[in-house]
Amino acid sequence: MTEILHCDDEGFTRAAAALSAGDLVAFATETVYGLGADATKAQAVAKIYEAKGRPSFNPLIVHLADIEAAKALVLWNERAQALAEAFWPGPLTLILPRAADCPVSLLCSAGLDSLALRVPAKASARELLRRCGRPIAAPSANRSGRISPTRAQHVLAELEGRVDFILDDGPCEFGLESSVLSLLEDGPQLLRPGAITAEEIEALIGPLSGPRSSPGGEDQALSSPGLLASHYAPAARLRLKAPSPRGDEAYLDFGGQAPETKGKNYLDLSPQGDLLEAASNLFDYLRRLDESGARAIAVAPIPETGLGVAINDRLKRAAAPRP
Ligand code: TXA
Ligand code: MG
Repeated sequence: MTEILHCDDEGFTRAAAALSAGDLVAFATETVYGLGADATKAQAVAKIYEAKGRPSFNPLIVHLADIEAAKALVLWNERAQALAEAFWPGPLTLILPRAADCPVSLLCSAGLDSLALRVPAKASARELLRRCGRPIAAPSANRSGRISPTRAQHVLAELEGRVDFILDDGPCEFGLESSVLSLLEDGPQLLRPGAITAEEIEALIGPLSGPRSSPGGEDQALSSPGLLASHYAPAARLRLKAPSPRGDEAYLDFGGQAPETKGKNYLDLSPQGDLLEAASNLFDYLRRLDESGARAIAVAPIPETGLGVAINDRLKRAAAPRP
């Protein structure tokens, strides 16, 4: 089920075609192997979470062939320009506000208004990105909670049968994930230390603000309280495991559980009851119902299996009382 491709013309062609078709392709970068999917296709992005078996939706890094492609997706600024000129292509990820017309799936941002971007340096990654000509979402190509893979064999051991292709380009040079730098309003913050150091960044854009996170894996990066203050939460109250709406509640259905409420302020995450489809629609539909002005959104019960675990995790967070 998982096929290894080599970095020759045929390998690049097939890998790019698979990505364009919405399949998963693991590929080497200078840091670690990434598990790639077309970032503009929500269902392809949902496959990433399914393959990794993540119990929650962490936002993903979007990989691009060059600065111009990155600029088109976000609200670019002077700091981003200076950093990109100095460190791209290379192991630095920048977090910026999403542009209003950003074509990248909201699932990639885990519902946030921001997007993480990087232009990788490895020649094979750049060739692949150039050939498919679209933004590619790629977390490290390991199962959730495991260490990041730095060889094609590691990816195979982690994800055999869960990824369509692995584009083998030997070992990764750094073996450590990219530095993740937030350039959002609350000041530049290093969310994940990596190959580009805080000192190198400060030399270009001045002092960083906020706490320094300690080196660690993907899941540690944002676990310190307050680091990701902007976790997506709708303005409307959420009522979970609701078999049907009450009063003027909006209703977010799953598998057509309350079809009689169809009409105004009703959306079904997946009429067929498909969790992959539900995950791909989750953030988009929550936003739409929230923007309808409803004071409360009732949400149908969602099975606690497979991707349902991550969906329920996000719904519980969104339903939790706010400070
Ligand atoms: O070196 C790397 O960065 C590798 C290669 C494949 O590029 N990718 C990688 O991705 O390590 P991942 O998903 O394992 O880690 C991405 C990190 C996570 O800590 C995530 O929470 C953070 O970046 N991140 C992504 N988007 C974010 C956003 N909009 N706001 C805050 N943090 C974000
Ligand atoms: Mg990771």
